[in-house]
Amino acid sequence: MTIATYDAIVLGAGAAGLMCAATAGQRGRRVLLLDHADRVGKKILISGGGRCNFTNIHARAETYLSANPHFAKSALARYTPADFIALVDAYGIAYHEKALGQLFCDGSAKQIVTMLLDECTKGGVDIRCGENVEEISHGDAMFRGAFGNLHFAAPSLVIATGGPSIPKMGATGFAYDLARRFGLKIVEPRPALVPLTLGGDDLLFRSLSGIATPVEARAGKAAFREAALFTHRGLSGPAILQISSYWRHGEPVTIDFAPGAASGWLVAAKRERPRATLTAALASILPDRLAQALAERLALPGELGAQTDRRLADAEARLRRWTFRPNGTEGFAKAEVTAGGIATAGLSSQTMMAKSLPGLYAVGEAVDVTGWLGGYNFQWAWASGHAAGLAL
Ligand code: FDA
Repeated sequence: MTIATYDAIVLGAGAAGLMCAATAGQRGRRVLLLDHADRVGKKILISGGGRCNFTNIHARAETYLSANPHFAKSALARYTPADFIALVDAYGIAYHEKALGQLFCDGSAKQIVTMLLDECTKGGVDIRCGENVEEISHGDAMFRGAFGNLHFAAPSLVIATGGPSIPKMGATGFAYDLARRFGLKIVEPRPALVPLTLGGDDLLFRSLSGIATPVEARAGKAAFREAALFTHRGLSGPAILQISSYWRHGEPVTIDFAPGAASGWLVAAKRERPRATLTAALASILPDRLAQALAERLALPGELGAQTDRRLADAEARLRRWTFRPNGTEGFAKAEVTAGGIATAGLSSQTMMAKSLPGLYAVGEAVDVTGWLGGYNFQWAWASGHAAGLAL
């Protein structure tokens, strides 16, 4: 049996693995990049509705969740959004800021995958797809394994196989199995950036499926001011996806349905339009059907002028802290990312190398670092992949 030797094996040719392999390869390392899918970068290709929201100019450690909120600082500081933008510029890829610092390709996400493949080619990376990675072992300071007929060995192994979100795209919990096998701990993985499902009294809101409105959504101490969307299963939209990463089973989610309105606006509306109904007043800031549904639940029939200021102030307070009790999420099948993962306590924040096993690295979504919605997760994939690529 012939064994091909390399300086490093990178498992998973997604965002983090491609960046890691290209970085190490361009430093003269002989890198083998393996993926069980039939092609590289599948999640990049479908990301951002096919336009890839490839970074966020506001990325900083505070925009990530992790058991150690400081862990991401080093890698994020050493490979910044500006660094990735410089790469995108060097390839002449046109892009635009959609909102809130989110950068998208003008053309297609394919351009980002092509760029990363070109970077791998520059580094002489050996890329192989479409087989299962098997028989991974470690001994005599070498990692060994098989990929179809190819038997390989290298002193460094990078786990870049992502998390289990969207299994139908080939996502697996392989990273965790491998990490555990080599003695690393796992922070319990859970679906994040995921729609929430409603039951009980909240079921009535399902009839509003398809309606979106700007809100401020809160779970615990986290708050996001973006759009929320009612769905036939519960709640979605950017504000809800963001808050879902912080939400824990059994906790409420509160929604401010009037985030842009001045405090006391309902009493002010009574002064301005005393003949208007509550539904009409709400419809001045909310979609009609939502205004009607909320007004029914607030149960203040008749004209605003017939209501006391106190009752209107109470109604406004309820509108600003509308409490939903989600009964779950739509799970890994619909989660844009996985929160939790390989515990950062076992990794160097400088290099992503396992403290207990020199030569073993973990990068990207497989690690317990999860970004907000809006390009933050790719920035973590680039930054952590780059950090490991410099260290291999
Ligand atoms: P990633 O999942 O990209 O790559 C892992 C690779 O490992 C895959 O190629 C997979 O096939 C391979 N693999 C898995 N198991 C394996 C095994 N057992 N053996 C071999 N290979 C294996 N983020 C963002 O910042 N902006 C955005 O616009 C979007 N949009 C978006 C849309 C959708 C629909 C989803 C599901 C996700 C996003 N994301 C996003 C999140 C983003 O895609 C995600 O955070 C990164 O792809 C993570 O990069 P990784 O390289 O860590 O994993």
